[in-house]
Amino acid sequence: MDRPLTFLGLETSCDDTAAAVVRAPPGPGPGAVLATVVLGQGALHAPFGGIVPEIAARAHAEKADLAVEAALARAGLGLADLDGIAVTSGPGLIGGLLAGVMLARGIAAATALPLVGVNHLAAHALTPRLTDAIAFPYLMLLVSGGHAQFLAVEGPGAFRRLGGTIDDAPGEAFDKVAKLLGLGQPGGPAIEARAAAGDGRRFAFPRPLLDRPGCDLSFSGLMTAVLRARDALARGGEGPAGGDLADLAAGFQAAVVETLAEKSRRALARFPAPVFAVAGGVAANRALRAALAAVADAAGARFLAPPQALCTDNGAIVAWAGIERQRAGLARAEDLLARPRWPLDGAALPLLGGGRRGAKG
Ligand code: KG4
Ligand code: ZN
Repeated sequence: MDRPLTFLGLETSCDDTAAAVVRAPPGPGPGAVLATVVLGQGALHAPFGGIVPEIAARAHAEKADLAVEAALARAGLGLADLDGIAVTSGPGLIGGLLAGVMLARGIAAATALPLVGVNHLAAHALTPRLTDAIAFPYLMLLVSGGHAQFLAVEGPGAFRRLGGTIDDAPGEAFDKVAKLLGLGQPGGPAIEARAAAGDGRRFAFPRPLLDRPGCDLSFSGLMTAVLRARDALARGGEGPAGGDLADLAAGFQAAVVETLAEKSRRALARFPAPVFAVAGGVAANRALRAALAAVADAAGARFLAPPQALCTDNGAIVAWAGIERQRAGLARAEDLLARPRWPLDGAALPLLGGGRRGAKG
């Protein structure tokens, strides 16, 4: 660790074509995000009500090189200024992963730069080291559109899963509930905005799996409960509106937040780390952040939630994970094989149905 490292990071695992340039200091310390470019595909998928893998793959193939060019231009750097390239090689939608890995391989072949394949979940999980240079070990709650897991993070390649979802991911639940309430996508921000004016206690939605020990999660029953409450309110075929809509959104959000908070309390009791960090798209939710901060506080742990732009999918967290793996001597050729499934903790048993559902699964 005797010189700074500057990496290009490329992310194409789902519906964001993203590239970024990140510089790590010579010793321990946070990274500097020199430029980050995210080209979303929301408008392309909107008419279909969900992510269409073929459309996503084609859009990544068309735009990934533009994202890389834009990131380098914004950083004021050329390929010759880089020390390496990192690319998400899994888990995710295979077409998009292939588009990203192929582009990264091409750039690496043309420049002879080192190329590091990065696990998308590891990229999320290592984010608090990019932003705050925290030491290992720490507890991470990863909550995104495709994943929900508690991880004991013990090194750049050492992740132990303490629990996770047995069905849907919370982001997926936010997206589906938004859809059934007639709100736009992505559902998280839409529900959070509506919930602000609602009464979270009007509907008695379930707090899934709180009756079971451990920190596994489940969200499918909660979604069904929201659906039933919506239908009970429906009159003359009209969807819920006004105060009803706000109360349904608030009730659902409160159930997700309370469940995640209680499971976090249990995870911290099992793995009493000095830092509790959250990452993934759902970590952008302010009610969730506040509840998790309170849980960390009560357990005497420092709470860390990276800025929103680094919580949702982006190239900077991929570049950083690439730097960490390169420095730790963990970069392996087989990590460059694009793969749709790639559990972080190979030793953990598969969760019942966990991560298999939905476009992001
Ligand atoms: O990490 P991410 O960008 O993509 C992956 O799933 O990998 O997460 C996207 C998810 C979406 O499901 C979106 O609805 C959710 O994060 N999300 C939120 C909020 N902002 C984004 N969920 C709840 N509250 C939010 N404010
Ligand atoms: Zn993600």
